[in-house]
Amino acid sequence: MTKPNSFFHNLIKPFKLSSSKEEENQDDLQSITSQEQKIFPYETLVAATNKFHILNKLGEGGFGPVFKGKLNDGREIAVKKLSHRSNQGKTQFINEAKLLSRVQHRNVVTLFGYCTHGSEKLLVYEYVPRESLDKLLFKSQKKEQLDWTRRFDIISGVARGLIYLHEDCHNCIIHRDIKASNILLDQKWVPKIADFGLARLFPEDQTHVQTRVAGTNGYLAPEYLMHGHLSVKADVFSYGVLVLELVSGQRNSSFDMDVSAQNLLDWAYRLYKKGRALEIVDPTLASSVVTEQVEMCIKLGLLCTQGDPQLRPTMGRVVVMLSKKPGHMEEPTRPAIPGSRYRRVPRRPYAMSSGSGADDDDSKSHTFDSSNSGTNTTSATATATTSSNITAEVDRRGKRPMQG
Ligand SMILES: Nc1ncnc2c1ncn2[C@@H]1O[C@H](COP(=O)(O)OP(=O)(O)OP(=O)(O)O)[C@@H](O)[C@H]1O
Ligand SMILES: [Mg+2]
Repeated sequence: MTKPNSFFHNLIKPFKLSSSKEEENQDDLQSITSQEQKIFPYETLVAATNKFHILNKLGEGGFGPVFKGKLNDGREIAVKKLSHRSNQGKTQFINEAKLLSRVQHRNVVTLFGYCTHGSEKLLVYEYVPRESLDKLLFKSQKKEQLDWTRRFDIISGVARGLIYLHEDCHNCIIHRDIKASNILLDQKWVPKIADFGLARLFPEDQTHVQTRVAGTNGYLAPEYLMHGHLSVKADVFSYGVLVLELVSGQRNSSFDMDVSAQNLLDWAYRLYKKGRALEIVDPTLASSVVTEQVEMCIKLGLLCTQGDPQLRPTMGRVVVMLSKKPGHMEEPTRPAIPGSRYRRVPRRPYAMSSGSGADDDDSKSHTFDSSNSGTNTTSATATATTSSNITAEVDRRGKRPMQG
């Protein structure tokens, strides 16, 4: 963004110049002022993206297409055109976007600003050159670029970004959609969390509630998925899935390594209990792996994906664990298998006790009362009405099954 010094410099400069120069500088001043306010004129974004040309399209997720662009000042941007599905008022959108553009952290993508044009709403982000983690991690020709050191740095960096969102920025921001496609990598492989706060830009009409609870296949915490109970621990769960994906190079949503395992988490846990956890490690990591760190990350992934949100660590605790040896960690209980084994039992204490580590009976059905899940609980995006008949249909972007 414009530094205060250059802003001041531009303010005084016109007094020393001829009138045509003065006009030019008035224009400059206007554009600097709008930059300070983080508003982008629509024409600027049209020009920057070559009229939202298809060749500049980076991808399209649940909120709308994303285009690469370049501003006149040389900055590269990613412009997200929010789908018209959001009928949020303009003022509310602007207020939210202003708040989100104040979020600043090395491991969180910078939101440069926003734009409204008729009924269109657009968000303007910094362009992150290596784009999203999923484009590398799940592609056999590219995943070799991600050696263990890089993967471990991603695991640590995302944890720091999440602590910031949960604890240190102006408001607690629960991301709700942590997944490989929302982790972007810069030139130096620094991970940056994308799409934070997006759920806040979409008002909670019924259709939207269903879409968000539907969320993304494979990453959603069971209490959020099934009952709409949202807390920071839902992000911890998604983070745990991401950690196990980084270790194994396998996508949880399309896991097919072992027919007897229900998903990546189940597979990892079973091997872990047999003392064979290292068998999940991505073969492309063979030459770079640091065994002690990998073992710790597998345990960490399992701790973060436990069915009971209270048994999952906070992101603060995750960072502490990442800096210590595996011996300092609790024993994970069996991870959640969303949609299959969890049911809500109101007003009952948790069936699993913290750190027991005794739960290795695969046939056992786990229950928990997520209404009791204390930590930082905010009003949920979803209501329990959306919880019951979620079909097994998965859409092409890997979004979670939608309600039938
Ligand atoms: N700031 C950015 N810099 C570089 N590439 C980006 C940026 N933002 C998004 N992208 C790319 O655009 C693609 C589409 O992003 P988008 O967020 O719309 O989809 P998604 O993450 O797959 O789904 P969701 O809507 O659930 O987040 C991403 O996969 C990513 O590769
Ligand atoms: Mg995204």
